[in-house]
Formats: sequence, structure tokens, C-alpha cells
Amino acid sequence: MSDIKKIKEEFINKLKQDLDLNSVNQIKTDLFGKNGKISNEFKKLGSIAVEERKKFASELNSIKDEIQTAISKKIQDLEIIEINSKLQNEKIDVTLPERSFNQGKIHPVSQVIDEISSIFSEIGFNVEEGPDVENEYNNFTALNTPDNHPARDMHDTFYLDNNKEYLLRTHTSPVQVRTMLKGKPPFKIIAPGRTYRSDSDQTHSPMFHQVEGLHIDKNINMGHLKGCLNYFIKEFFEVNKIKMRFRPSHFPFTEPSAEVDIGYKIKDGKIIIGEGDKWLEILGCGMVHPNVLKNVKVDPSKYQGYAFGIGIDRLAMLKYGINDLRSFFETDYRWLNHFGFDPLDVPSSYRGLSR
Ligand code: DAH
Repeated sequence: MSDIKKIKEEFINKLKQDLDLNSVNQIKTDLFGKNGKISNEFKKLGSIAVEERKKFASELNSIKDEIQTAISKKIQDLEIIEINSKLQNEKIDVTLPERSFNQGKIHPVSQVIDEISSIFSEIGFNVEEGPDVENEYNNFTALNTPDNHPARDMHDTFYLDNNKEYLLRTHTSPVQVRTMLKGKPPFKIIAPGRTYRSDSDQTHSPMFHQVEGLHIDKNINMGHLKGCLNYFIKEFFEVNKIKMRFRPSHFPFTEPSAEVDIGYKIKDGKIIIGEGDKWLEILGCGMVHPNVLKNVKVDPSKYQGYAFGIGIDRLAMLKYGINDLRSFFETDYRWLNHFGFDPLDVPSSYRGLSR
């Protein structure tokens, strides 16, 4: 047998063995690489006598083709084996039941804070925040509520030290003070957050939520306050008409001061906002007292404006039909599952589409 036939026999037999892709590639190099056995045979062509050369060349070429075909076939076979084993091992059983998972719910208070922020931001209010632990100056004194003022008693304050210097803020109004002290007018902000008073029954919880509003500029008057609150109530309750009344009241930090009631009726056990002859108090407001402006270095002869404070929990109870305020804070998972919101379920007012 000629040398090249021997080479062919040897390698065709090798290829019949159980090989992996690497070994096949190695065989390829052994034969056709720079010093491969077939490559070397081709190099011999020049030194062979002319009459022999043609026969040798054609034999060498056909053996080369034969081996190359065998190698390609082997590679293809190996690839098919690999694909089949992948298909076998990585098979997805689409008939399996899906894995269950628990999706959390958004608490009604968080939901309502988001809705309120979105509604006010549409008319140019920025959202500010302040700390729950306040000093007595920001919570009372700067807000024109001096030491001996009876309003201090009404607030049932949780003091944090014997000097009564630090406390849990009793309202969100100190954020007005913080905002005005750190900036320059005009101011147009809301400040939602937690507030604390030593009080607990069906409609009072020692921790509750308020949103403060403040708009100070050169010519802001009570008409602007009414317009702003009217817009807010309609947007929030998603109604076109609202009954609203301003009752004279007193707050040390506003002059004049008012409390705002909205009209409602009960129909089939449900509360309907904007109709009927019953009244419900929902917020306190007024024109910011000149003393407050002075305390935060705003000139009351140049600037004026309104402020308001709304109970957020009360709004959430009204809008979503929740009866007991205390249930908000009992962290009962079943309650949250019932009254909570799907994170992806965005109500229309939140999208600003209700107008
Ligand atoms: N801070 C008041 C409270 O907690 C609510 C309030 C009334 C806030 C009138 C205001 C306001 O900004 O102008 O009872």
C-alpha cells in the first residue's frame, strides 16, 4: 500500500472512534496543518519525476477530498449529538403550574399621598419634606404660637425631653417654617407626612398624616386659596361639582383663618361627595399671619399668601370607604390585602386624566 493510502486508512479508522470535537480538530491539524501529514505529501510533489507526478497528484487529491469529507461528516455528527443532548437536558415543561409569588400592596395612605402630590404638582406645587422630630421653635414659636398660647395644650404634644425643646411634630406646619427659612419667596409647596398627638379613638390615632400647603407671592389672596382647594377636592374625589363652605375659625399662624367643610350624602350605605346637605370638615386654612412671615425673614409688606393643612387619613377613609382610622396602623395583612392597591393599578386621578 502506498504511503498516502496508509495515512488515509489510519485516519479514517481514527475517525470511526468515539471522539469529541477537540480531538477531531486535532486530527485536522495533524493532517492539514503546516506540518500535517497530507500537507507534507503535497510538498513532495516537486521532487517526483514528471511522469509519476500526475498520477500521484490525482491520488493525493482524491484522498485529501475523502478525508476532508469524512472529517466534515464527523463534525456534523458530533454537533447533532450535542444539540440533541441540549434539547433533552434543557427542555422546558410548559405544562407545569406556574410558581406562585406574593405581590405586596400599597397602603391606602401611601396611595393617597401619591395622588395628592400628583394633583398639586399639576398646578405648580413642589413637594417638601421635614423631620418627624422637630424643635419647639419650628413647631410652635415660629408659627406665632408662643409659650403660653392655649393652642399648645390642644395639640397634646409628645415631648422628647424635660426642657420641652424637642418633640414629635404635632402638625406638618413646621415644614412651612423650614421651607421659608432655607429659600427666598415665592413659595409654592405641599408637605405630606406623619404627625403625632397623644390621642386615640375611632377617629384619632397617636400617629396620623397631614399634608401642608403654602403659597406665598406678591399678590396671593383668599380667592386663590378657594380656587386651589376647589380644584383639589374635585380632582381628588373625581367629581365635576363640589359643595364647599368656609367657616371662620382660629389658628395662631393664619389671619383670617377658616375651616373648610365639603357637602356629602349617604346613599345605599355609601358616602357620595359633592351632593346632599350634610357637611364634613376636612381641613384648616387661612392667610399666613404677618408674624409668621417676619419669623422666617419674609417681608410681610411685600409678600403674602395662604396656607392649609389637610388630614390625609380622613381623605383616604372617605375616598376608599374605610370606617376605622385605627385599622390603618394595625398592620393586618388581610386588611392591607383588601384595602391596599396593586402597584401597577394606577387610578385615573393619579394619571391626571380625570379632567
Ligand atoms: N396645623 C393645623 C392643625 O394641625 C392645620 C392648619 C390650619 C394648617 C391652618 C395650616 C393652616 O397651614 O393655615 O390643626
